[in-house]
Amino acid sequence: MKRIDITFNLTEVENIDELSQSEQELINISRRMTTQAYAPYSGFYVGSAVLLENGKIITGSNQENAAYPSGLCAERVAVFAASSQYPDVKIKAVAISGNAKSHNISHPVTPCGACRQALLEYEVKQEDPVKVFLSGHSGKIYIIDKIQDLLPLSFTSRELTDL
Ligand code: THU
Repeated sequence: MKRIDITFNLTEVENIDELSQSEQELINISRRMTTQAYAPYSGFYVGSAVLLENGKIITGSNQENAAYPSGLCAERVAVFAASSQYPDVKIKAVAISGNAKSHNISHPVTPCGACRQALLEYEVKQEDPVKVFLSGHSGKIYIIDKIQDLLPLSFTSRELTDL
């Protein structure tokens, strides 16, 4: 019997000015997208911006529904739109930002498990890492090198290839 450590590193950025212009733009777009959320039930507003290899940026915000499970998270809205509009273009990065109706969030908002799984699908498909930028309305930013880091011991299409 042995214990196994699974670790990953992330980059914490105190000030957005430390990032490149294009990274700042992606994060700022995802922050702006929180204002487009349709979230009357939770009052939690999430925005996402997906940067494609062709330079296009596809956006999304969370969309809720009176039948609660029928809603969808912001990053899945964005990445599904990106993949349906540009199925053969690789995804370089995804920015996700969160804010609340009652107060401004100043810490990085992290994606739910279902979104990690959905994002990982495209990273596995394209065989290239997708960088992740997480933030609140303001404050520090987390940068994660690849989706895989957010979902250790994941279930992917690799399990299904030998069937
Ligand atoms: N939400 C997202 O948009 N992304 C996440 O990764 C976490 C949760 C949304 C779903 C719901 O509309 C609201 O935040 C509260 O859960």
